[in-house]
Amino acid sequence: MAFKVAIVGATGAVGVEFMQVLERRNFPVSELRLLASKRSAGTTLKYKGKDVTVTELNEGSFAGCDLALFSAGSSVSKQYRDACTKAGCLMVDNSSAFRMEDGVPLVVPEVNPQEAAKALQKNGGKGVIANPNCVTIIALVVLAPLHREAGIKRLVAATYQASSGAGHAAMVELQEGTRAFLDNKPFTPKVIPVPYAFNLFPHNSPWLDDKGYCEEELKLLKEGHKILGDTSPRITATCVRVPILRAHSEALNVEFVKPMSVARAYEILRAAPGVRVVEDRAKNRWPMPLDVAGKDDVQVGRIRVDQSNPNTLDLWVVGDQLLKGAALNAVQCAELALLGKVAPNQS
Ligand code: A2P
Repeated sequence: MAFKVAIVGATGAVGVEFMQVLERRNFPVSELRLLASKRSAGTTLKYKGKDVTVTELNEGSFAGCDLALFSAGSSVSKQYRDACTKAGCLMVDNSSAFRMEDGVPLVVPEVNPQEAAKALQKNGGKGVIANPNCVTIIALVVLAPLHREAGIKRLVAATYQASSGAGHAAMVELQEGTRAFLDNKPFTPKVIPVPYAFNLFPHNSPWLDDKGYCEEELKLLKEGHKILGDTSPRITATCVRVPILRAHSEALNVEFVKPMSVARAYEILRAAPGVRVVEDRAKNRWPMPLDVAGKDDVQVGRIRVDQSNPNTLDLWVVGDQLLKGAALNAVQCAELALLGKVAPNQS
């Protein structure tokens, strides 16, 4: 069995990763359609060593397709949803467009794999799987197994987010801005609204409410509850963009309902799918963005008792935003829905 697969936003930061993840995991592809805007039509990208020409996305792009992986922003996803699903093509969407819509599964395969198949159910399946926010995926891969055992009462998260979350142009801007800074040359940013090199700033998503949270911070709360199928954990976050290319780091302070020791947390996480414990105090080795970039597993370390609050642990978690935070999770969702199982992680 092999599938005709379309990638929407193929020339973008996540789009390129979609192709590599499909190839690396040996997803059965019988035909690959690379779709982007008019700007990129006619350019070629390599898939399995062969050139594939990018074409302009249009209403007819999904005819005969089985699967479309979308990462071209919410407005493109909204505009082309019907064209995709009416062609009988499963849409796995990396944007935030449909994540909170009733009946659209929001899936992290390590956490709620049973949800993926609902997209294709005969009665009521909407033909869409939403890929969650990157910070939420990375946190939940680690937190869900702990939640299953001891119940999370409250989560306080601080994030250190890479430029890749703002797309390919932001990654280039970080590199060029850094070069200009070191050369003492003027630099006018076009994507990120503030100086980025040697700086950090609260996440540049819109303020969503009068309490002062930005959209990114509320995603962890709302999406976290939907994925866990449990609204009882109280969740707050401070999301910060840091001058890192592609891996997000998260400091998670987690209060549990039932007792949870450091030793038990390590034991659970050593056995958890998609998680790698990295902890070598003698060598000063912890999860770090440069080590995690290009890796499938989310890494966790520095688990310790929060001495300021009962039954609370602190964890340090790092995951590749482009892989587990985006392309890898989406392809795993497609594997679940179309193949009924997730292939093992490769890197
Ligand atoms: P293009 O390269 O032709 O602009 P990123 O997330 O890295 O910013 O990438 C965004 C992706 O979405 C790119 O592949 C971009 O294509 C694509 N894209 C943006 N706008 C559209 C659109 N209106 N129609 C199709 N693809 C789009």
